[in-house]
Amino acid sequence: MYFIDKLICPVCGSKFTQNEKSLVCGNNHLFDIAKQGYVNLLSGKSKNGDLIGDNGSMAQSRQAFLNKDYFSSLADGICEYVTSMKKEKPVMLDICCGEGYYSKKVLEKQSGELYGFDLSRQMVRLAARRKLDASFFVANISHIPIEDESVDIAFHFFAPFHENEFSRVLRKGGVLLSVVPGENHLFELKEKIYDTPYKNDEQLPETKNLNLSDTFKISKTVSLESNEDIQSLFAMTPYYYRTSQKDKEKIHLIDRLETTVEFVVGVYTK
Ligand SMILES: C[S@@+](CC[C@H](N)C(=O)[O-])C[C@H]1O[C@@H](n2cnc3c(N)ncnc32)[C@H](O)[C@@H]1O
Ligand SMILES: [Zn+2]
Repeated sequence: MYFIDKLICPVCGSKFTQNEKSLVCGNNHLFDIAKQGYVNLLSGKSKNGDLIGDNGSMAQSRQAFLNKDYFSSLADGICEYVTSMKKEKPVMLDICCGEGYYSKKVLEKQSGELYGFDLSRQMVRLAARRKLDASFFVANISHIPIEDESVDIAFHFFAPFHENEFSRVLRKGGVLLSVVPGENHLFELKEKIYDTPYKNDEQLPETKNLNLSDTFKISKTVSLESNEDIQSLFAMTPYYYRTSQKDKEKIHLIDRLETTVEFVVGVYTK
């Protein structure tokens, strides 16, 4: 299924009609539907979404890791929040959706019209391959090809923030659920690697356009049962690339690790 109702052309802002293999706007701008079922809606120079977003092998390893449900406590907490809103068929937008794990989890509990996008074509391709009842497209948060005031619930997990665009696409009364790592997130993993591990600052995005109406924390201990999973988790962290080779090697021989996974959810309303 490819929803197009809330999509707009990134070039001229007009609505689309859908042909067998493409989306066409009222001004004849045409975007092909890839065989995996997603659409690249980047326009102009930034058309290649692999240059800035995550690359192919990172995307695959992220998907393999998330599919093992180590972060299912976050998905469950989000689903609980969404279903408690009791909205019938809400329009949902997964901002920087990555490879689609959270979109999938939400749709298992809440039906509606779900759109998801990411700057990385590789990520969006994997999300589309999940064959969800949803529309995935490649786009940049600085120019989201979604109609003004059309989204009831937006998801924004571990990703850059764009205040103007996020508030533009939200309907009045719409909600943005933004997630940052909790202070103890992966602390036991950091203890294995760093002499003086630090705690996360739990800093939720600051915004003038939206109202931070609620926050809640989700905390759990998970057991990683293989070195491969421990390495994949580490590679997903933002500090992986800042860690020296010598420190990285400290986890080469660890096959099992109990670590805290902790998330802070900010509920922003428009
Ligand atoms: C840490 S990942 C989180 C992905 C997903 N939300 C999740 O939790 O699995 C951050 C994502 O943001 C995407 N991203 C980074 N900059 C972006 C931008 N300017 N526009 C859209 N996506 C972007 C990356 O490609 C990457 O998939
Ligand atoms: Zn157009």
